[in-house]
Amino acid sequence: MFLRLAVALLVLCCLGQRPHAQPAPALPESAQAVGWKTAREAVAIERRIDALIARMTLPEKVGQLVLTGRGDGFDIRRIRDGLIGGVMNFVVPREVREVQEAVRASRLKIPLIIGLDAVHGFSTYFPLPLGQAATFNPALIEEAAYWTGREASAAGVNWTFAPMVDMSRDPRWGRGLEGAGEDPYYASVVAAARTRGYQRGGVAATVKHFVGYGAAEAGRDYNSTWIPTSQLHDLHLPPFRAAFEAGSMTAMAAFNALNGMPATAHRGMLTELLRDRWKFKGFVVSDFGSITELRLHGIAADDAEAARKALLAGIDMDMMSEVYHKHLAREVAAGRVPMAALNEAVRRVLRVKFHLGLFGRPDVDVAAAPALMQTQAARDVALKAAQESVILLRNAGDILPIRDSVRSVAVIGAMAVPEDERVWTDPAGLGRRVVQPLPDALRERLPTGATVRYQPAFTKACGTEFSDKAAAIDAAAASDMIVAMLGEDCEFMGEGASRTQLGLPGVQQELLEALVATGKPVVLVLATGRPLVLTWASEKVAAIVQTFHGGTEGRTAIADVLTGKVNPSGRTPMSFPRSVGQIPVYYNQLPTGRPQQIRQRYESIFMDEANDALYPFGFGLSYSRFSYANARVARGSVAVNGTIEVMVDVANTGTRDGQEVAQLYIRQPVASRSRPLRELKAFEKVLLRAGETKTLLFRLDAAQLGAHDDEGRYSVDAGLVEIWLGGSSRADLKTQVMLTKS
Ligand code: BGC
Repeated sequence: MFLRLAVALLVLCCLGQRPHAQPAPALPESAQAVGWKTAREAVAIERRIDALIARMTLPEKVGQLVLTGRGDGFDIRRIRDGLIGGVMNFVVPREVREVQEAVRASRLKIPLIIGLDAVHGFSTYFPLPLGQAATFNPALIEEAAYWTGREASAAGVNWTFAPMVDMSRDPRWGRGLEGAGEDPYYASVVAAARTRGYQRGGVAATVKHFVGYGAAEAGRDYNSTWIPTSQLHDLHLPPFRAAFEAGSMTAMAAFNALNGMPATAHRGMLTELLRDRWKFKGFVVSDFGSITELRLHGIAADDAEAARKALLAGIDMDMMSEVYHKHLAREVAAGRVPMAALNEAVRRVLRVKFHLGLFGRPDVDVAAAPALMQTQAARDVALKAAQESVILLRNAGDILPIRDSVRSVAVIGAMAVPEDERVWTDPAGLGRRVVQPLPDALRERLPTGATVRYQPAFTKACGTEFSDKAAAIDAAAASDMIVAMLGEDCEFMGEGASRTQLGLPGVQQELLEALVATGKPVVLVLATGRPLVLTWASEKVAAIVQTFHGGTEGRTAIADVLTGKVNPSGRTPMSFPRSVGQIPVYYNQLPTGRPQQIRQRYESIFMDEANDALYPFGFGLSYSRFSYANARVARGSVAVNGTIEVMVDVANTGTRDGQEVAQLYIRQPVASRSRPLRELKAFEKVLLRAGETKTLLFRLDAAQLGAHDDEGRYSVDAGLVEIWLGGSSRADLKTQVMLTKS
């Protein structure tokens, strides 16, 4: 944690913050797209690797598998000695250059892979990944990753520890914010988009955490996971597969034990599935210190055994454990780890370095780097992503957008005005200036003469302590409308931030209730890292505007939505529970033999809570109204290896132009196994002018509509497929198709 803070401060002081947009300069060499080379180039690379491995000493081989970090204990002499293969958390171009120069003083001059958690931005901050997922706009998500990669690579970073593609149905887990939500199809689309974006921007992607990390029991971070084989294949593995198919050059193993075997030593996943079946040719890095943690998992007596088990399972690079450095050479010399296994791991690391183009690439251009940060082009993408990530959950009486008759607005909550150069609690750990405070952005957009009063109410953005509650209530009572910006900040979200209660942290609920008690309409703007339980708010406040921390342009985007400059188009990537006791609550549940019918005993219900989500997956309001009609299929019967064509007319019946996320769900009511009540299989974000109708065509590959069994075998069943179309997972317009044997 301390290390991350230090990294953040370094970035702030040495790259320099650029509150004003810069014109985009030409791409430097290091920012060119990276990815797997094919055909003759790939063959030539294998020969170069053979030649290089033949020249390497045992310590140099082990060195390629060592990933060490900036900070206490870092010793640059180890790079000169050829004992380090990769470094992480070097973000200041001058320091990157120093380590690159140290490589050139080494015997074999093998370039370093330089990694960083560039999770949702490097210098320009985009919304948290969960917020990006709320856009349902894969092209935009890809652009955000592209600019993240491009800025990082301009600073000399060539490897990002992203995308995280862990599936989670549990908002108690703090890391859901790094993922794309609860749906495996959508998460796969996002995983591919992010992988492509990063690698186009110039950094190798790391799809993580392989596998099952998001299923931590009780949502408690690092806790064990128990995942049946069918669910592993249908829910958790698809986004990994999608990222590999999009070219992800590396993967990171997870911290958790999967069905009793720590993922860091899981040969079945890391070798038999990943390498043998999926033919992944890149390398796998451990998570931070997770090899030495094999002792604590209880499968290694000491670090030597941990190193041996991890390597033999398929972990190529040791992130920050130092156990490969300390023990691997001895394990090989003693014959406990075959030289061939070591060589194979070294080969995978070198392969990625060659395909990345690191050999022969010039060192980072220290002078050029600052001008490549927060360019206008990157900020434009950040603004669009922030705008499209805003989800309008509630809008009673169409109180939003703010009407001209509203003459005064009270903006309440310290989160509305970020500290100048504050450090976010964020997996990337990189603090960034957040450009525009919400009150200023509103002032700019409201009609002349309208008053905006701002009161922070709390000492800090996370709302754990009041600064001046009375002043906040006075400002609220004196205004026509209250905009309360509340949510999770500080230590309340991200890694290691699991929660058992999902209300507003600290004293924020107390404030919200006092604001509602003024009788003035309250617009609750949320910036959180997960879906909170909003049951009280959903009955008491006039409007709820959900954001997942919007990044550099986040507050500007909120003001755009509140004032109607932008029509909200974000949709929930995760279901919002009504209460913690409902968790896990997700839309793609299996049917039960006792479905809820008339709400009586012996049905699958809670005595004290509804079954469904407060806000279901795929939901979000707009200032427009959309309607769906004429759902139809081109052909009523299609072979299981054929293509299903589905059409639907979507109309904007409102008075404003708006974007709708048209969603297609299927269910196979009779199949060889029980199948989910709904499964998203296609979607399209479409702009509809006021009054406009468009006919959308969805093409479904019938081969994608199957499921896995308990042995991990995949099949598509012939039979009826019900198809629903609409603007959320509660879509109710239906058509159907008959799948026939091919
Ligand atoms: C996280 C990884 C991250 C690594 C390096 C770990 O604690 O689980 O996702 O990439 O730290 O910062």
